[in-house]
Formats: sequence, C-alpha cells, structure tokens
Amino acid sequence: MIIQAEFQCSNTDWKKCPKADLPEFAFIGRSNVGKSSLINALANNKKLAKTSSTPGKTRLINHFLVDKRWFLVDLPGYGYAKASKKSRHIWGEMSSKYLQNRENLMCTFVLIDVRLEPQKNDLEFINWCGEKQLPIAIIFTKSDKLKAGEIQSNIAGFEKSLLEYWEELPPRFLTSSVKKNGLAEILEYINGIIS
Ligand code: GTP
Ligand code: MG
Repeated sequence: MIIQAEFQCSNTDWKKCPKADLPEFAFIGRSNVGKSSLINALANNKKLAKTSSTPGKTRLINHFLVDKRWFLVDLPGYGYAKASKKSRHIWGEMSSKYLQNRENLMCTFVLIDVRLEPQKNDLEFINWCGEKQLPIAIIFTKSDKLKAGEIQSNIAGFEKSLLEYWEELPPRFLTSSVKKNGLAEILEYINGIIS
C-alpha cells in the first residue's frame, strides 16, 4: 500500500511541473468519474485531493509525491458538459501537452464510470492515446453502485467498443473508492513498473 503521499504543486503548464526525476503515473477521466476519490483511497487520505459532488473541480495538473519514489498526477477531467467551450479547450490543451511531453510519464490511468454505456469522449480520448502511443491502463470506477452481473456486461460492452479500434486491450482494473476494492491491484501494477 501507499505509505506516504504528499501534495507537491499545481500547474497549468507541463513545463513548470516538478523535475522529471522520478517515474510518474497520471489519472484522467471524465469529470465526476471519481479521480480524486480514487487518489485519496489509494493514499488512504481523504483530504489529499479535493473531491466534490460538483463536476469540474480539478482544473490544474496536480502533482503528489508518493513514498518519495514516484509522482501521482491528478489531471483535469475532460468532457464536462457544463464548462464553457473555451475553458474545455484550455483544459484539453493543458492535459494533452502534458501527456505528450512529460518524459517520466510511465502510464496514464483512464478512469471509466462502470455504470455508463461506452461514452464517445472516453473512447476518443483512449484512441487519441493510442495514436500518440501513450501507455494507458483502464480503471473502471464506482463498482459499489452496480450488481456483479451489470458490471460484467458493462465491462464486456466497453471492451467490445475498444476492440473496434484496438487489436489488444490495455490492462484493466475494477475499483470502488467507497469499498476500497481494486486498489491493491493498481498499486501492484505501479510497483511492477517502477521496481
Ligand atoms: P472532478 O475533479 O470534478 O473532475 O471529479 P473527480 O473525477 O475527481 O470526482 P470525485 O472524486 O470528486 O467524485 C465525484 C463524485 O463521485 C463524488 O460525489 C464522490 O463521492 C463520488 N464517488 C467517487 N468515487 C466513488 C465510488 O467508488 N463509489 C461511489 N459510490 N461514489 C463515488
Ligand atoms: Mg477531481
């Protein structure tokens, strides 16, 4: 498990992010998918990342230093319908520049709300990562909100959508920040990459 996580800094520009001298893992997804909750659950610290029932809370590139060994990055959510077109564009620019330029970025975890049908903007983002050859893994969130059967069929539906574009599926995880399910698997995956 994560022993110690501390907030480092927030930036709008990837060039101002901390020195890229440790491996880094980013978390991104549609607004309200549960990124901040997942980060807090991983770190076992409810106050680390700001969570909110109002979508669009995370507007900056937020760096957290974990066990003084790796950086965890909370990125602004994409596809928040109520944000103005201009601010959506700015968030997108900020994240896409960061994702394409950050040299120590090992993997981007794309969070998907397991309750929803495959969403266009999620698939577009995943396919964009594929085009840019950015390594990703998928984290299905909020598993506590559905029955096992519904989870299985939603995940199968999502995988089917991905396989229309991808020959091979990226690694996938199923989590609940409320029940703390699936967190150890993510940390193991990260550990496997950095050690
Ligand atoms: P933005 O920063 O606004 O883009 O959102 P976010 O993706 O960081 O989402 P956040 O963690 O703030 O969670 C959004 C809402 O979903 C909050 O009301 C959370 O309590 C709820 N939530 C997050 N994860 C879970 C989960 O695993 N289970 C349940 N039941 N609710 C969750
Ligand atoms: Mg957030």
